[in-house]
Amino acid sequence: MNILEVIAVKLDQSLPVAKMQNLLNYIDSEKQSRIKSFYRYEDKERCLIGDILVRYMLASYLRICPQEINFSHNEFGKPYLKEYPLYFNLSHSGYWVVAVLDTNENGIDVQEMGDVDLALAERFYSKREYIELLGMKGNQRAHLFYDLWTLKECYIKTAGKGLSLPLDSIILERIDSSIYKSYLKEKEIYLKLYHLDSSYKLAVSSDSGCFENLKILTLEELYTLFMISLKTPALINGK
Ligand SMILES: CC(C)(COP(=O)(O)OP(=O)(O)OC[C@H]1O[C@@H](n2cnc3c(N)ncnc32)[C@H](O)[C@@H]1OP(=O)(O)O)[C@@H](O)C(=O)NCCC(=O)NCCS
Repeated sequence: MNILEVIAVKLDQSLPVAKMQNLLNYIDSEKQSRIKSFYRYEDKERCLIGDILVRYMLASYLRICPQEINFSHNEFGKPYLKEYPLYFNLSHSGYWVVAVLDTNENGIDVQEMGDVDLALAERFYSKREYIELLGMKGNQRAHLFYDLWTLKECYIKTAGKGLSLPLDSIILERIDSSIYKSYLKEKEIYLKLYHLDSSYKLAVSSDSGCFENLKILTLEELYTLFMISLKTPALINGK
């Protein structure tokens, strides 16, 4: 089955405080408390917008109100829907919040690029990946290091077991410059690297290997779409 949607929201321009406050009304009380507990505004913003983005994507697809969505969590914290056979995953880093929606289990990861930690690569990447990194320099090495990091993180998030899954157990086979193949519970999964911007990496998984184009929204655009999604189900159902 195809990936239904991949959306990235850029947080480079903040929303007015009143709009942020308004969005808080549409998430559950547990998430509200978590957001309040964050010290930094950026952490509050990433967490709130992640929840709103996923609610918007699910509600639009299911044609229900975003507030009707109840998240359950597996024992490692991965959120899922009990009531519907629809899967999603969410990731945030720096000024990006990204989410994926699919009819099968999936994962997504966005990472801001930083320094290359070769000791970490030696410990957690395969021998072949580590040797390939050693043969590279500067920018080229940094890109491969973060491509692999993001792909592995995406794999971990698809499996949904957090770091209980040994990092060095993840085998990635490169199909082409942006698509990788791996196995999860003895089934094939594909991981795609999307181009987001020059200092971030984005990876998404799918069991079909068919990937949607990436849609990019500003915060204002997401806010507007979310507000429309609050009204649409009522219109459809003639209420
Ligand atoms: C949650 C986890 C799986 C990813 O954490 P992260 O990269 O810091 O966070 P991301 O922004 O990508 O994802 C966070 C979102 O994933 C979802 N999530 C939470 N637990 C999850 C899990 N076990 N599996 C999949 N998704 C999960 C939530 O929606 C969460 O959003 P929220 O925090 O706003 O509620 C983390 O527990 C983890 O184990 N990270 C691995 C770190 C690492 O060393 N990677 C090395 C790769 S080489």
